[in-house]
Amino acid sequence: MTARIDGFSKLSKSDKIDWIVSNFTHDPEGFKSLIKQYWNDDTELQRIHDEFAENTISNFYLPLGIAPNFLINGKIYAIPMAVEESSVVAAASNAAKYWQNRGGFKAVVLRTEKVGQVHFTFSGASSWLEEAFISLKPKLIQDLKPLMKNMEERGGGLLSLELRNKTSLLDNYYQLHATFETKDAMGANFINSCLEQLAASWEEEIDRREYTGGDHPDTEIIMSILSNYVPDCIVRAEVSCPVNVLDEDAMDTELFARKMIQAVSIAQVEPFRAVTHNKGIMNGVDAVVLATGNDFRAVEAGVHAYAAREGSYKGLTEAWIEDGQFSLRIDLPLALGTVGGLTRLHPLVRFSMEVLGQPSAKELMELVAVAGLAQNFAALRSLVTTGIQQGHMKMHLLNILNQLGASSTEKEKVVAHFKTATVSFNEAQQVLEQIRRS
Ligand code: MEV
Repeated sequence: MTARIDGFSKLSKSDKIDWIVSNFTHDPEGFKSLIKQYWNDDTELQRIHDEFAENTISNFYLPLGIAPNFLINGKIYAIPMAVEESSVVAAASNAAKYWQNRGGFKAVVLRTEKVGQVHFTFSGASSWLEEAFISLKPKLIQDLKPLMKNMEERGGGLLSLELRNKTSLLDNYYQLHATFETKDAMGANFINSCLEQLAASWEEEIDRREYTGGDHPDTEIIMSILSNYVPDCIVRAEVSCPVNVLDEDAMDTELFARKMIQAVSIAQVEPFRAVTHNKGIMNGVDAVVLATGNDFRAVEAGVHAYAAREGSYKGLTEAWIEDGQFSLRIDLPLALGTVGGLTRLHPLVRFSMEVLGQPSAKELMELVAVAGLAQNFAALRSLVTTGIQQGHMKMHLLNILNQLGASSTEKEKVVAHFKTATVSFNEAQQVLEQIRRS
């Protein structure tokens, strides 16, 4: 099946569906009704969703779960999480409950600076360019004023503007490197608009400025774009309690604390482990980022770059014991918004924001970092005690049973059986067959 089409975007939704199911599936009628089942015909809700993106033919659901009982900076939160992986919400809830009785989570935003760059080439003398930048800088900033008016009224705006010489890396390559404060907005549109204005003013001013060393050299703007690497937009979350109240069922508390620290240390030195360690953290981070309508791709890219900032990829958490006190800490670069983007548009994002008490962007950074830290604690706790599969497979059991077409009564019986037994696909299948035979 290699059907090609011109003007797909111009087709009506139902023609798009007809075209895709008839050209690319073996069961057009079946898939057509599946697609319709997932959309809310003729509703305002559907119209909003259709307009989020292009060529929409239906909706793609993810479960929205709640992890309650998070004590963060002395306040209790129920955290909404959009995630499909079994056991992520359960792990967050367990970690929340665990730390609720041990002082809770502490979180603090350390810095909130975002970055944008105008990338350009210049073929003349760098000393001339540097002098030109110094004298043109006030004009460049002045030209940004109309764009920055609203942001400045909210306490944000441009923080710094530098010319960076990158010619040792790439011939003729320079940047205008700008930093911004964007308050409660993630700031992508604001920053990109400012950068495009900056690029236009810069190119115009440079072109018409007299060049002292011969023919006027070429300047070419290559691109203007924010950076999703935000090492100076950073939040810290931490848990801490005396080793003797770690209270582990499965093992001596000293041994538990030591193994936790060893597990964190392994992720600091071994990239194969660090990636999985950080994946567990991102289970929590992405779920809250998605539920609050933020850009999880931007967060993912920035966090992993941060994990590799020292030249090798490392785990994002640190753990230690000092004066009999066990601590686990995470620092995360997070550019998040609580205004703009999907935050007021997506009805379930509005709901999540309401549940979280209409947080500021800073507060949301703290909550997301805590969700990541909680996941890391929960994962390491399982890994160094019972192993991950015990809890994971229990949560996965319902997926297995759904795959096997079990009814609700059958599910209840199988789940009861596995309260005391180890779950595997084969075991679940056999138990289900037995129930069906009897
Ligand atoms: C699974 O989604 C996440 C874990 O692998 C994280 C970890 O190993 O730390 C359990």
